[in-house]
Amino acid sequence: MKGLLEICYLIGSVTFIIGLKMMGNAKTARKGNLIGAFGMTIAILGTIFLFRTDHTTVNTLKFVLIFGAIGIGSAIGWLTAKKVEMTKMPELVSMFNGMGGACAALIGLTEYEHNRGNIAALSFIVAGMVIGTISFSGSIIAYLKLSGKMDKPVRLPNYNSLNNIVLLLVVIASVYVVLQSLALPVFVIWILFVVAIIYGILFTVPIGGADMPVVISLLNSFTGLAAAFGGFLYDNKPMLTGGILVGSAGTLLTLARCKAMNRPLSNVIFGAFGGGSGAAAGEASEKGTVKDIQVSDLAVLLNYSKKVVIVPGYGLAVAQAQHVIHELEKLLEERGVEVKYAIHPVAGRMPGHMNVLLAESNVEYEKLVEMEDINPEFPQTDVVLVVGANDVVNPAAKTDPSSPIYGMPILDVENAKNIIINKRSMSAGYAGIDNLLFYNSKTSMFFGDAKKALTELVAEIKQL
Ligand code: TAP
Repeated sequence: MKGLLEICYLIGSVTFIIGLKMMGNAKTARKGNLIGAFGMTIAILGTIFLFRTDHTTVNTLKFVLIFGAIGIGSAIGWLTAKKVEMTKMPELVSMFNGMGGACAALIGLTEYEHNRGNIAALSFIVAGMVIGTISFSGSIIAYLKLSGKMDKPVRLPNYNSLNNIVLLLVVIASVYVVLQSLALPVFVIWILFVVAIIYGILFTVPIGGADMPVVISLLNSFTGLAAAFGGFLYDNKPMLTGGILVGSAGTLLTLARCKAMNRPLSNVIFGAFGGGSGAAAGEASEKGTVKDIQVSDLAVLLNYSKKVVIVPGYGLAVAQAQHVIHELEKLLEERGVEVKYAIHPVAGRMPGHMNVLLAESNVEYEKLVEMEDINPEFPQTDVVLVVGANDVVNPAAKTDPSSPIYGMPILDVENAKNIIINKRSMSAGYAGIDNLLFYNSKTSMFFGDAKKALTELVAEIKQL
């Protein structure tokens, strides 16, 4: 029985690693996901039928409950993932991540009682419970922020001190609960759970705007770490491998995103950045003059350009304009215009969002140029066409030290000869701040929903 269980765990661990590796490439990602899911199924079935601890009893009711829960969970997960829109994916990921944290927390809450007095086991249990809980409540707040249900910046008075005091409280209480488990009543673990929930909320609530990508991957790594503690506790290899993979991948992603935002991690966590005030459309006119451009004039400008760089952003994804932008690109190339796409590392709402979106419409991968490589090309660019992007082209990141995005590397589109910005209004982007690029003398606004506006543009160019 033990040997068979080990084989199931081995299959689970190996398939996780292979699956993760395959997810590194858009072509093999789907297969990698399926391979990982297959391994997970084997590991779960092995655990249900073959794993026993001293205090597990097996009866029919337990199996009914387990498979009932798996059935309900799978149905909810399947249906939600099936119908989620691409632009809502980060919220879904955040929610799923929170559920992972909650699972780790539940393990801790149930196992505490059975392991009282065993300091080694309790260390894993309490660490997993606390980290999982922080990840759970933090991810729920991240979900609310990403879905726009909590869009007002929350800045509590003395935020840093308050946050650090609660963190210290959590750490001290955790150590105490581990060392004094026999002297304390069992329900103390629930008190710790509540304090950890509060810390998770406090930790995530003030972070916003452009720093959200960092906090999301950080919470991901927390969930991985919490699961890894569970793996230690049960000597469960796939849980350990999966947890470590998620934990380390999440940490690497966090660091990569900090680098992309040019922000030290401590600054994101303790700086309460990103909640800048939103710019109302009315206010906009006070900052300078805004020119707009008609579709016929834009068609001529693009048609007779030598080099055009398209900057895709979140609005392109919202409008689902990836197919029409590809059509525009092909049309211009047929007319002898060189076209490239400038990809900012945090454009959109999830890692690689623009790459995935443009791959959907079969844009050649070579045409997607990373920020560092495209920035030197802007001075030789006749037209830069910004479609539904805002924060990633906001010069305030370079010029305004009071701006919440100050220091974040951006696409230097202001160096191009002509700047065209397609969006629906003068509204702010994710960071909620005004963008002086819109008032630049080289800028013309091409207002409208990206899909509709670009469709009209394509039709207009075809007539030339
Ligand atoms: P944003 O700064 O969010 O700007 C998107 C713009 O698209 C908005 O100003 C909006 O203006 C416009 N828009 C919305 N719907 C549109 C439509 N149907 N047609 C045309 N335009 C439309 O986007 P960005 O430049 O891609 O920057 C991404 C932001 O998200 C950054 O602040 C980043 O830190 C943050 N973020 C990124 C991630 C990751 S990992 N990528 C995760 C979380 C947060 P209108 O309303 O006027 O149309």
